[in-house]
Amino acid sequence: MAKDPKPALKPFEPEWLERSLDRYYTVGLLFMLVLIVAFPLYKLSEPNLRKDAKAEQQANYVVYGAELYKNTCAQCHGEKAAGGGSAPTLNSKEFLGATSDGQMQSIIGVGVPGSDMSAWNMDFGGALTSEQIRELVTYIRSFEPTAPSIPDWRKGAKAAG
Ligand code: HEC
Repeated sequence: MAKDPKPALKPFEPEWLERSLDRYYTVGLLFMLVLIVAFPLYKLSEPNLRKDAKAEQQANYVVYGAELYKNTCAQCHGEKAAGGGSAPTLNSKEFLGATSDGQMQSIIGVGVPGSDMSAWNMDFGGALTSEQIRELVTYIRSFEPTAPSIPDWRKGAKAAG
């Protein structure tokens, strides 16, 4: 009894479809490779983008803050922040070293009760927004690298001599 030869299996997919699918797989694979390479490159540059954006914002804040300072603070603290009759020197290495941005924001926002330093934040009846106060603080902070040593900054102009 001779066995019947097995009938040849028909290919699962017709040849034209297989070729077409192969092409899609190849394109898909290439696309994935592009993503795999592009993502770390983007990750590498992203902190720089953020740093650039932050530096630009700081620079803008210093400009806006300087204008606000001239109009609202200079009359007491002095044009160059060297202090006034009773207003402390703000351009002082010691003051800037001892005072964080957050502390400065609250002093400016809330003021010093019982002194000429009034509350500047709108939330406390002042004329400035929190954003403007942050601009002022960024401006005052920008003195730090060149601020002269004035340990008696609270004495204002008298200390600055
Ligand atoms: C009318 C005068 C006057 C004006 C205007 C004024 N200040 Fe003052 N400021 C003072 C006096 C006085 C003090 C000291 C208060 C105290 O501690 O007795 C002071 C204190 C401060 C302090 C705290 C300094 C320290 O020794 O800790 C900061 C910061 C400050 N002012 C920032 C500002 C800014 C920013 C502006 C503008 C929005 C401003 N001041 C406007 C009079 C003024």
